[in-house]
Amino acid sequence: MRKTVSFVLNGNRMEMEIEPEWTLLHLLREELEMTGSKSGCESGECGACTVIVNGKAVNSCLFPAPEIEGASVTTIEGMAKPTGELHPLQTAFIEKGAVQCGYCTPGMIMSAKALLDENPNPSEGEIRHALAGNMCRCTGYVQILDAVKFAAHALSTKGEVRPRKGEERIA
Ligand code: FES
Ligand code: FES
Repeated sequence: MRKTVSFVLNGNRMEMEIEPEWTLLHLLREELEMTGSKSGCESGECGACTVIVNGKAVNSCLFPAPEIEGASVTTIEGMAKPTGELHPLQTAFIEKGAVQCGYCTPGMIMSAKALLDENPNPSEGEIRHALAGNMCRCTGYVQILDAVKFAAHALSTKGEVRPRKGEERIA
């Protein structure tokens, strides 16, 4: 039987009817057509579906949709400003060459955002730990680590990390 859930998605209040067996990933991609969060393994192994729920990075493929009642959800679509200006993490991934096919990128960025929101100055070990559940098949992790370090520095110094001309949002 359908149930109504109320939650906040990327700063917008939402109310919708869901089926109890839906996952959050299904709700986002299939019902709301927000396809920035990727579907990879759908078994909690790859991290491509990572979003932030109440400040914590979660695998949305395993997260039961009914549990978002009253929660605040952030996805990759909520990272750039309404003006289109990218979040420093998105800019850092571009600047450091941390994106190739881009399939893992939304999940990587959401895991990194959850880390930096909680710990603005993480060690390399802490970054590795935060990204341990996110797999990348093509870029290699060195550039991804560099990007997170670069973004942490930019955010902590409020540095101006601007996208190059013509660069668009990652999602
Ligand atoms: S699709 Fe969710 S962890 Fe792989
Ligand atoms: S950039 Fe292709 S999987 Fe990571």
